[in-house]
Amino acid sequence: MSELSVNHLLGIKYLNKKDIELIFETADHFKEVINRSIKKVPTLRDTTIANIFFENSTRTKLSFELAEKRLSADVINFSASQSSVKKGETLIDTVNNILSMKVDMVIMRHPNPGAGIFLSKHVNASIINAGDGAHEHPTQALLDSYSIREKLEGVEGKNVVIVGDILHSRVALSNIFALKLQGAKVKVCGPKTLIPKHIESLGVEVETDLVKALEWCDVANMLRVQNERMDISYFPSTREYTQQFGINRKLLDSLNKEIVIMHPGPINRGVEITSDVADSDQSIILEQVENGVAIRMAVIYLLASKIK
Ligand code: CP
Repeated sequence: MSELSVNHLLGIKYLNKKDIELIFETADHFKEVINRSIKKVPTLRDTTIANIFFENSTRTKLSFELAEKRLSADVINFSASQSSVKKGETLIDTVNNILSMKVDMVIMRHPNPGAGIFLSKHVNASIINAGDGAHEHPTQALLDSYSIREKLEGVEGKNVVIVGDILHSRVALSNIFALKLQGAKVKVCGPKTLIPKHIESLGVEVETDLVKALEWCDVANMLRVQNERMDISYFPSTREYTQQFGINRKLLDSLNKEIVIMHPGPINRGVEITSDVADSDQSIILEQVENGVAIRMAVIYLLASKIK
């Protein structure tokens, strides 16, 4: 029987190509399930999952919760802003208190890079990283690659450019790991100040000219500028950023081919992407969100099979 090589999903860095293929094949099955009239399976009736979010989230939190409910798991939700974390409780104490209620799996979003890795060494439950600071966001990268695979019938050999704030982006890092594992060619594009030094060591190329990057690619994954992670100014003004690194209809129409547009959300309309691109036929932004549920069902199911 096929199983994942890991007991936790802490980052794409810890997966191999076979793990990704297994997750995608399992997600294919769950995508069929969630498009049936009865969208639920009894698979995880005896599993309890805690979603603990120390940072804001719309898509990831709702998508995980829906995935868990579609699998018939029991679900508890924890939001740091309404919890005893505010009274000084540590991460391990918080999670151990939750686990003493017989929880099998923890889905955690945390502002600190490596928080999930730390937790996995100190608590007895399967941990899924739902985004740890500017480090990794593995399920986002899996759903992004899965959406490319669906739209372009594969990921291997495709040219993918990730555009924007690469420096502060966990989505960028996880996407780079996932795309390279599957044999895609990857470029990053953005202001030099928002591209990490030595990023080429991950096997990607840097392109600071957006038009050249778009002419080269099959897929452009547009990222948001993460102002909340910036304590200094990385570019002169939002207007200049948009002029140099924002995508709009005119730019898209000037290319000599039709490319696929992606965005992990949340979108800043009119900054990195205009509405006439985000809402166009070339955009698969809402397909990404739909695929997120099937991917998260697959990851939860495959990890849960390892703890039973
Ligand atoms: N893509 C993503 O992580 O969105 P949320 O912050 O809304 O979860």
